[in-house]
Parts: sequence; structure tokens; C-alpha cells
Amino acid sequence: MLAGKRILLIVGGGIAAFKSLDLIRRLRERGATVTPVLTRAAEEFVTPLSTSALAGQKVYRDLFDLTDEAEMGHIELSRAADLVVVAPATADLMGKMAGGLANDLASTLLMATDKRVLIAPAMNVRMWEHPATQRNLATLKGDGVLTVGPDVGDMACGEHGPGRMSEPLAIVDAVEAALLDGPLKGKHVLVTSGPTHEPIDPVRYIANRSSGAQGTAIARSLAALGANVTFVTGPADVPPPLGVKVVKVQTASEMKEAVDAALPADAAVFAAAVADWRVANASGSKMKKDGSGNAPALEFTENPDILAGVSQMKKDRPKLVVGFAAETDDVQANATAKRKRKGCDWIVANDVSPETGIMGGSENAVTIISDEGAESWPRLTKDQVAAKIAAKIAGALA
Ligand code: CTP
Repeated sequence: MLAGKRILLIVGGGIAAFKSLDLIRRLRERGATVTPVLTRAAEEFVTPLSTSALAGQKVYRDLFDLTDEAEMGHIELSRAADLVVVAPATADLMGKMAGGLANDLASTLLMATDKRVLIAPAMNVRMWEHPATQRNLATLKGDGVLTVGPDVGDMACGEHGPGRMSEPLAIVDAVEAALLDGPLKGKHVLVTSGPTHEPIDPVRYIANRSSGAQGTAIARSLAALGANVTFVTGPADVPPPLGVKVVKVQTASEMKEAVDAALPADAAVFAAAVADWRVANASGSKMKKDGSGNAPALEFTENPDILAGVSQMKKDRPKLVVGFAAETDDVQANATAKRKRKGCDWIVANDVSPETGIMGGSENAVTIISDEGAESWPRLTKDQVAAKIAAKIAGALA
């Protein structure tokens, strides 16, 4: 049931747009309120009048319609919904979304929204299979965009294959699934991610090869299950996920402060590759060659162990504390010892030897070490590992 749910429906310009009229009817039958937005191209296929009649609402049509702006700004329009649905999502709309363009009302709403977005792609088979569309699809999925379809079948253009927009009732099912309260609803989960940068002087620093990809994917998966996520990240290569509270830090000390400030939490996942040491004699001004041929000697001091600190908290310890162990030798034995030493509940151990290609790559092979022993997962994409870890956390907090 969709009683009380507000759907912002963006209709793209494709022959499948006529099915969106039925979609409006089906959504309303289930109690949803549907606010329709037509792209200019969509108006070639369906009229604003029929769309508005079926929705029982005004249709929003153009970014520069000043009357609309006076009534409800596009930012507000994009946020007043519980879910944004794009049906049909044409190749053009998907390209705009993946590229972050905002040159008409539909694309601006999609950029401005803070809600989840579900797309129902529809296009010619060749267009669907084109590497550009598939690249855009992968980007959108990485951004947390949900998809339904396309279906395989005969198309209006006479070709056969994937490209038909899903039937309205299948889209309604996907809308219901997207709006279901996730198992982590109401839970606060803290995630650390990325490397830290430890300054040597104002222009130089010590870093590591962590891209932040695994921590980012975990934060995204936790948010997808309904968690309220605080994401404390060092300077990562990948952008932070949508729908989480992002706290950006540089050093291990700043990360510790941000973690302390974010507690209490129901669970904490420490995926960051924190520098074990910082430079004790870091210079406040740029270090210069003095002409003697002698290199300056750096002295190191140990950073606070954030994971161990939180694991060993007497008061307000998160119910579940998950650490990571990046090892190059004796992965399981080292990780088991690390779990004991730090006092966390689980350790996600991975082999970061250069030949595995895991550090900085898109795949991961992990072993989860807990009270119950060691559980090794096959080599999976980091997104798949993240989804499995998030599901396991949801199970532990249930
Ligand atoms: N970690 C942390 N704070 C630190 C160092 C590490 O929170 N100062 C966390 C990491 O986020 C990770 C776990 O501890 O979850 C393991 O980090 P790792 O660097 O692999 O272990 P080390 O503590 O450095 O142990 P070793 O040097 O023996 O590998």
C-alpha cells in the first residue's frame, strides 16, 4: 500500500510515456499522491491536460515557468516527495543524470533532490546496449539510483530485445519496495572510510593507497537499508554516497575527534586506512634544502587507535563494532589476533598484497572474523561485499 506516500513522477520523452498515464492511475489507486513533471520531449507523446487530469494535480513543465517558481521552487518540489520516479527514463535523461546536467526542470529536480530515485528505462535495444548507456547505468547505480526493467520484447520501432519499459504494475511493485522501511530504520551507524593524510609540512604529507571505495560502498548499503549514517571520511578518491551525513577530515587525530562527536551509535564500522603514525616534528613552514646534501630526519609518534578506543569504551559503546584488517601475510591469524587486541566484535580481513589488486581496485575477497569463527566470502565486487556486510549488520542489530 502506498497510502500517504508522495511520488514525484518525471515523464521522459519516449513512446512508453503513454504507459506512465496508467502508472499514475495505478499509484493513485494504492493511495499515493502523484506530482507529474513532463519534459519538453514528453509533451510530444502525452498532453499536460491528460496527465494532470489523471494525477488530479497540476503538471510541472518547465524550469523557467515563473508561475511555478512562485508557487513552489524546484528545490522544494524535489524534496517534498518521498520518492522520485523517472518513467520512462530515456537514454537522454539517463545521460543527463549520470553527467550531472541541470538544464531543464526534470534534470534540475533530479540534481536537487535529497530523496531516493527509481528509474524505469525505456529505449531502442541498440541504444540500451550502447556502451554509453551501460556506462551511465553503472554510474547511476553507483550513485544509489534504483532501477526497474527494461523488459525484453518487441518494441515500437520494430526491433526485439531489452528496452521496453516495465509494465506499470511492475513499476508500482518497485515503488513499494523502495518505500519499505528498511531493517536499519531508526538505527544510527557510524562509518569511517578512506586514507588519512599526515602532514610533514604545509605542502607535504604521508598517505596510503586506500581509495575509500569499500567504506563508501558500505555507507551506501547501510543507508539503503534505512540506517541514519554518519560517514567520517579522509581524502578519498571516490565521492561520498548520497543520503548520509558526511564529515570530511584529513588526519587521524581529526578523524578521532569526528568519531567521538558522532557517538553514540548503534553500530560503528571502521573501514578507514588510518595512518598508524604522524610526524612528530612536522614543520609549520615549508622545509627547504639547506645545500648541505643532508636530508631532514622525520620523527614519528603513534596516532590514537580509534577502533580500539571505541571498542573498549565503558559507557556508550556501540552494540556492534566492526574493524577492518588489511594484511599482506597470514591474513586470518593476524586478523584474529587483531580482533582480540582491539576488542571489536567483528574484523573484516582482506589480503592487500599488490598481486590481489584489492587496494584501489573494484573487487574484494574478505573473511569475517567474529565470536563464531571465520567466514570467508568469495571474491566479489566491493558493492556486493558492502551489501552483504550491511545485511549482516542489520541481522546483528535486529
Ligand atoms: N584503525 C583505527 N585507528 C588507527 C589505526 C587503525 O581506527 N589509528 C582501524 C582501522 O580503521 C581498521 C583497523 O583499525 O578498522 C585495523 O587497522 P590496520 O591498520 O590494519 O591495523 P593496525 O592497527 O595498523 O595493526 P598492524 O599495524 O599490526 O597491522
